[in-house]
Amino acid sequence: MPPVVPSSSSSDTGNRTVRLSNGVEMPTVGFGCAGYVRKPALLEALAAGYRLFDTAQATEWYLEDELGAALAEAPHVNRSELFLTSKLHPRDLGEQPTLDAFPRSLARLRTTYLDAFLLHYPACFGSLCATPPAGTWRESWRALEALYDQGRIRALGVSNFAPSQLRELLEWARVGPHLVQSWMDPLHQERALRRLCAAHGVQFQAYSSLGTQHAGRTGGANPVLKHPAVAALADEAGRAPAQVVLRWALQRGAAVIPRSTKPRHIAANRALHDFALTEAQLRAVDALDGQDPVAVLSGLPPLPCADENAGCPAWAEAGECEANAAFMLVSCRGSCNACEAKVEL
Ligand SMILES: NC(=O)c1ccc[n+]([C@@H]2O[C@H](COP(=O)([O-])OP(=O)(O)OC[C@H]3O[C@@H](n4cnc5c(N)ncnc54)[C@H](OP(=O)(O)O)[C@@H]3O)[C@@H](O)[C@H]2O)c1
Repeated sequence: MPPVVPSSSSSDTGNRTVRLSNGVEMPTVGFGCAGYVRKPALLEALAAGYRLFDTAQATEWYLEDELGAALAEAPHVNRSELFLTSKLHPRDLGEQPTLDAFPRSLARLRTTYLDAFLLHYPACFGSLCATPPAGTWRESWRALEALYDQGRIRALGVSNFAPSQLRELLEWARVGPHLVQSWMDPLHQERALRRLCAAHGVQFQAYSSLGTQHAGRTGGANPVLKHPAVAALADEAGRAPAQVVLRWALQRGAAVIPRSTKPRHIAANRALHDFALTEAQLRAVDALDGQDPVAVLSGLPPLPCADENAGCPAWAEAGECEANAAFMLVSCRGSCNACEAKVEL
């Protein structure tokens, strides 16, 4: 186990920050904790210099207490240097359930405040909630505003919100979102949501930027890291494909939170500030948006956009993006982005 190093020195450019709309500084490169990342990888990440950690209350994917235990073993890292993000499980949507759920993250993470707390989803879906939640994301947001007023959360945000939902939140929130987290990779660039964030001064944070969301369609193979265009750019830049993808996201204004259990990947995913992609290289990645991941891996020419759920375009046309955004997000997110395509900003 490598020793945990003291706080990053000024020569450590890995922890560049972005200033959120309320003045809070957030590292642009953080460490993702989904996939049950455990203490050894977390200690490795701390030793490598990561200071932002992205976790959540959903034990379907995350272990907050494992992060709390790792942080407790890193006494040389001051709490003030860390940026800890967690997210509300959708089963706890509603004002009082949110107020009740929030301190459970503090206890598991062994801290007295969070740097960011996000609504993980705007609604329950699939088998995520045994019973319907007591309230809605709107009521949860009121709870987040109260916790923000009390100084127990430094920045507020949402995740997996459709543009229509984010627009609604922006219209009536007393404390607007500072951070929006959503899936963004070269084949799924989330342009509408990013444009909306940029227009309102909200920082966008990309999740699954290394291609993991496509695994269900590709039988586990990774069409982002194995994409021939990404490989060519990696050769040109003399960097790994993952670094090219993360650097592209950074240069397009997104913060990133890659996850890894391998020390060499953990180090590489943070070494993003000593090279830059040219405008032509950035545009080459931009051009991959919407490509069919299966076709990318098979080497066949990309198919015209064919949604994994054939009903998506018709549902979008019938107004389901607005009326039933959570359902559409889950059912139609993986390919054609039927709702995003419809959004006029
Ligand atoms: N808000 C949400 O709903 C939501 C959803 C998904 C994810 N997230 C957040 O976003 C984080 C990142 O997304 P993710 O967990 O889906 O995964 P990711 O960071 O996109 O990709 C992780 C995968 O890439 C591999 N990898 C990492 N670095 C690599 C490198 N340099 N070269 C080659 N392979 C590399 C990892 O394997 P190795 O371990 O072998 O390196 C792992 O299999 C999550 O951990 C979570 O914090 C949020």
